[in-house]
Amino acid sequence: QDAQLRLSKSTFKVGEADDFEDALHVHFDASHLAAAAGVVAAASRAPRRQRSAQDAQGLDFLRRPSMAMGPEDLRREQERPGYVKMLPMRQHLPAFHMAKEICSSVRDNQVTLILGATGCGKTTQIPQFLLEDCTLRGEPCRLVATQPRRISAVSVADRVATERGQTLGESVAFKIRFEDEITETTQVIFCTVGILLKVMQSNQYLEGATHIVVDEVHERGLHTDFLLILLRRLLKERPELRVVLMSATVDPSAFQAYFEGINTVSIPGKTNYPIEELFLEDFLLQLPELGGWRSNRQIRSSPFSQKPLAVPLDWEGVAAVLGESALVEEVVRVHNEMADVIDLELVLRVVKMIHQGGEEGGILIFMPGWAEIKEIIDRLKGRSFAGDLVIHALHSRLPTWEQKQIFQSPPEGQRKVVVATVLAETSITVEDVVYVIDPGRSRTTFFNEQTMISALRTVWYSKANGFQRRGRAGRCRPGVWYRLYTSMQWDAMEEYELPEMLRSPLEELCLEVASLGLGVPEEFLQEAISPPRAEVLQHAVELLQRLGAVEGRGETVTPLGAKLAKLQVHPMLAKLLLLAAPFRCFDMMLTICASLGYKPPFICPMGMEKAANKARQELSEGSSSDLVAMVNAYEGWKVGRDAFARQYFLSKETMEYIHRLREDLLLSIREVLHEVPEDHADHQARANACKAVLTAGLYPNLAWLHGKGRGKTLQNLPVKPHPGSVNAAESHCLMVFYEIQETTDRWLYDSTVIGAAPLLLFAPALTEVHRKQRVVFELERWHMAVDVRVADELLKLRRLLASFVN
Ligand code: CDP
Ligand code: MG
Repeated sequence: QDAQLRLSKSTFKVGEADDFEDALHVHFDASHLAAAAGVVAAASRAPRRQRSAQDAQGLDFLRRPSMAMGPEDLRREQERPGYVKMLPMRQHLPAFHMAKEICSSVRDNQVTLILGATGCGKTTQIPQFLLEDCTLRGEPCRLVATQPRRISAVSVADRVATERGQTLGESVAFKIRFEDEITETTQVIFCTVGILLKVMQSNQYLEGATHIVVDEVHERGLHTDFLLILLRRLLKERPELRVVLMSATVDPSAFQAYFEGINTVSIPGKTNYPIEELFLEDFLLQLPELGGWRSNRQIRSSPFSQKPLAVPLDWEGVAAVLGESALVEEVVRVHNEMADVIDLELVLRVVKMIHQGGEEGGILIFMPGWAEIKEIIDRLKGRSFAGDLVIHALHSRLPTWEQKQIFQSPPEGQRKVVVATVLAETSITVEDVVYVIDPGRSRTTFFNEQTMISALRTVWYSKANGFQRRGRAGRCRPGVWYRLYTSMQWDAMEEYELPEMLRSPLEELCLEVASLGLGVPEEFLQEAISPPRAEVLQHAVELLQRLGAVEGRGETVTPLGAKLAKLQVHPMLAKLLLLAAPFRCFDMMLTICASLGYKPPFICPMGMEKAANKARQELSEGSSSDLVAMVNAYEGWKVGRDAFARQYFLSKETMEYIHRLREDLLLSIREVLHEVPEDHADHQARANACKAVLTAGLYPNLAWLHGKGRGKTLQNLPVKPHPGSVNAAESHCLMVFYEIQETTDRWLYDSTVIGAAPLLLFAPALTEVHRKQRVVFELERWHMAVDVRVADELLKLRRLLASFVN
């Protein structure tokens, strides 16, 4: 039967639970939930479908038979025209002359650490040396080389195949999610770290692999560090396995202390011409039209955050009043104060200065993220000299074909400008760069241990990053490193970046530890090169416990946890998917999880914010949910494609990717869910079911908006729905959200307004207090008052649902 719940606004203040003035009326359809419960019961009785998850994902490649090779084969390979053509280029690389030493170190030691300047040929050459060494000796070779990013796995495999005069898949291939080119003859596989970890779930000893090459270890990525723990253990079980760590030239002592009997090979030789190193104060006064440098007073915001992208500086005013040297001081002051904004106008001035200088040479501009890259490119295109430039963007989501263009030389008389993320720091080398423009910032996840909130922040980088960027200049002739910060700022920078394991939330990692049967996560992760802090681990395990994914101290996965670990998304999203099936909104949730696991498809072109927000409102169909808007966007795009995307401000590329992620998720979900009932045909019923599942799955990510566009979370943190959200102007309501991002404020992204009903039905650990005609439920800091009649029904339903949800 339908029930009326009353949710008192003021009861959200602890201790004032009796005040029912201004009560919110919440309507919900109890029969609908009961029907859903029936579906759960039916689904849980359905027979299992047998099919190996590993097969479906093509992770068995190590166990495929490999062909024996000998010196004859090698000779034939080396005679291929493509091989011969590429050889002179390879012979110029410093790594090339170290082939013998590297191969003998790898033969004689279980672990070899190879240090060499970026661009010296580690990534592309070393796997080839090892392959050829084995072939020459008639020994088997099945080498897996991990890359920290998808884009490098693909581009490196492509390059190496070309250098061997082959097509992809012959002896060299890549494997990333969705794609691989592996054939029966493949011996060298470039893959992401994530893929190798997935392989280890079913092939713990990496049977079939002869060499594991771990590239870019100096980056100290979360998954790379985790992989190293596993490899260190594995080396005890498999004495014949060879591990090769490759690093840019940084302090190797951490790795040397970590692996017993590790041998280090340094590749000598500079890959660079001399580089002029400049700070802001060294070139500021040479910038063009300094006097007329009227600031762009209007602070523009990025399409993805409200954060200002440009610092408004009244240069002229400062110079006139204070004189030129004071201008420098002023710049120093502003730049030292602001870490999270980059003066884009300054960047453009430097480009102009270089271009007016008249010397040839490409320009590489580092930017923290896609939004800034796009902004810089848009602004560059508006300049008078834009016609002389060939401008490229370089970031991790670039399609492969577009990425290849970056390596091509610009047409005669034109200058190449590449605007890149951190990707260009070590992973991808653009050869003809002479000038590097470096704002000194990078965007990293930043984990606030007080609030346990992770945020994407733009921060000052470390000196080590700076040196890497410097090295990207002067690869073909002497270069210049323009630092857009002052020497004072440089002195204040850290030497190295904190390893990712020390600045990330660890839920996924802990679940991975549990599901690989590696013991108590807190203990196992103590074996890492830089063990994470106990508090963060406890928080992660607690979250997993709350999801019902692990038991004990996190060492035991529950049946639910085992299912969650198989789905390649954050455990929270995985749980949403599992719950959505019995509630008959699975297809919808698939879209939601695919976009949350990647990024929302909405774009917001500069100056079109109003129209974009309106389009999003339209897509939400009055559901007060960014997530429902996402689903409608996807469904509209499936039919209307490009035209629809244009009309509703959606990114085609993101849509394509979400579409593929959906397929991929569907494949892996089939292993754990055997029968998925069709979604409710009725839109309203579907949206309701979806909200119920979101409430159950995203708990405790709840907020109460007490005023227009502002509120507090269940943990009492002040928050605001993001201005781009369909709920930006909501007030006096409850919402669930997936993520908070801290920039200038704490923004709720992806929020959904919910009634109190699903909360009262699904939230774990409600305590109840009877008061006169009402029952007051306490949920952490919140109090919710309910009619006595309704409370009974509610508790019955809660018990029924609990048995399915967990
Ligand atoms: O790994 P490391 O930084 O030591 O060097 P690498 O990535 O093996 O690159 C060696 C050389 O190959 C560089 O000079 C690159 O420019 C070149 N290369 C290329 O031309 N195209 C690629 N897709 C990859 C590398
Ligand atoms: Mg490399």
